[in-house]
Amino acid sequence: MAQIFHPSTNVLANVSLVAVVVLPLGLLVGGSAISRSPWNTHVGLAKDQPAPFSHQHHAVELGIDCRYCHNSVEKSPYSNVPSTATCYTCHSQIWTNSPLLEPVRNSVATGQPLRWNQLHTVPDFVYFNHAVHVNRGLNCNVCHGPIQKEMMTYKGKPFFMAWCLNCHRNPEEYVGKREDVFSVYKKYQMDQPVVEDEAKLSDEEKKKLADTHLTPEQAALMDSGDYKRSNDEVEKGKELLSKYKVKKQQLSDCSVCHR
Ligand code: HEC
Ligand code: HEC
Ligand code: HEC
Ligand code: HEC
Ligand code: HEC
Repeated sequence: MAQIFHPSTNVLANVSLVAVVVLPLGLLVGGSAISRSPWNTHVGLAKDQPAPFSHQHHAVELGIDCRYCHNSVEKSPYSNVPSTATCYTCHSQIWTNSPLLEPVRNSVATGQPLRWNQLHTVPDFVYFNHAVHVNRGLNCNVCHGPIQKEMMTYKGKPFFMAWCLNCHRNPEEYVGKREDVFSVYKKYQMDQPVVEDEAKLSDEEKKKLADTHLTPEQAALMDSGDYKRSNDEVEKGKELLSKYKVKKQQLSDCSVCHR
């Protein structure tokens, strides 16, 4: 019987079959890789800013507390960025001729605020509250990455819904002591080494350490913002949840964030 199709068409048929299966898969995988890539999420990318402000300079080398500039972060739903008046408490006296501070001087002279480009945002239909989170001992770096060592501030985490939910479903993996939220930067500034095996120390030694040394968790927070708690630490997290009376079951209800 005469061949209707030339044998090479088999190859073609196979290739197109494979393409039918592989292409959409590729698009799916590629698509989600794109939606998770820094190009789309902006994680790790700095934006152009009106002045080259460095957290590393100000928060660590000079040791200025976060709340000196972000003074509403533990009291209000919103965290503010400082006005140039705050910068001018120092820069009317120091580094007054620096060309890098020209925009700050202009802003003070004209009364026009500096327009900092916001890096971390959630859409309008999402409710967020800083004070609630900070008062549950969640350090800034859990959500913003290692701000204190950044020369140019960049976005530290993706801020997807799934990212919020991951913590809302397992808050015992993250909640901490309220008083540690800001003191950890002081410890970081003192640059004390991490003590891996605290269990072996006497109570007095432990107490002394607590004031100066970063725990492994704190060191990881200062380094990247990411840390996986041990079972013991998760148990302590659970104790804190009940102390704080956090209603974990309701924390992932849609109405918590979409009101
Ligand atoms: C508590 C005092 C203080 C405050 C408040 C302060 N700064 Fe500074 N800033 C300094 C000091 C000190 C330096 C010099 C640091 C160094 O180079 O070691 C500096 C350096 C700088 C530089 C680099 C200047 C250069 O020529 O290298 C810029 C830009 C800057 N600050 C911007 C700001 C902005 C913007 C604000 C407000 C959001 C601000 N600063 C608030 C103390 C302060
Ligand atoms: C001297 C003032 C000053 C101090 C101290 C300071 N900040 Fe900032 N911060 C700023 C300014 C100005 C901006 C806006 C410019 C930028 O993004 O770099 C900013 C931006 C930020 C942002 C990004 C906001 C956004 O756009 O999404 C975060 C997060 C942040 N700061 C956290 C911190 C933390 C955490 C500390 C303490 C370790 C701290 N800041 C200390 C002045 C300060
Ligand atoms: C649980 C996560 C979380 C923690 C912890 C957290 N933030 Fe934020 N932060 C956010 C979210 C979400 C936004 C965006 C809010 C919005 O778009 O209204 C944000 C925005 C900001 C901004 C930008 C505000 C603006 O108007 O430009 C600053 C500054 C800031 N945070 C500082 C801090 C500081 C300082 C701390 C620690 C004391 C902190 N944050 C702790 C999640 C967090
Ligand atoms: C690292 C952990 C963590 C992350 C990340 C986190 N949350 Fe929360 N959030 C909590 C905890 C813990 C509470 C419970 C506070 C309480 O009940 O006292 C909470 C409470 C809330 C509340 C209730 C506040 C109120 O006034 O009752 C809202 C709204 C909320 N979170 C929104 C968000 C959004 C939006 C995001 C992501 C942009 C987010 N959270 C990311 C831990 C987190
Ligand atoms: C812990 C806070 C939180 C909770 C709880 C939450 N969401 Fe969201 N949701 C968000 C955030 C943040 C975004 C914005 C994500 C972004 O910008 O990529 C969002 C976005 C959305 C969107 C817009 C589409 C999208 O993916 O961007 C829809 C629809 C949505 N949420 C539905 C829900 C439903 C339904 C529930 C309950 C099952 C829920 N959300 C619970 C924080 C939350």
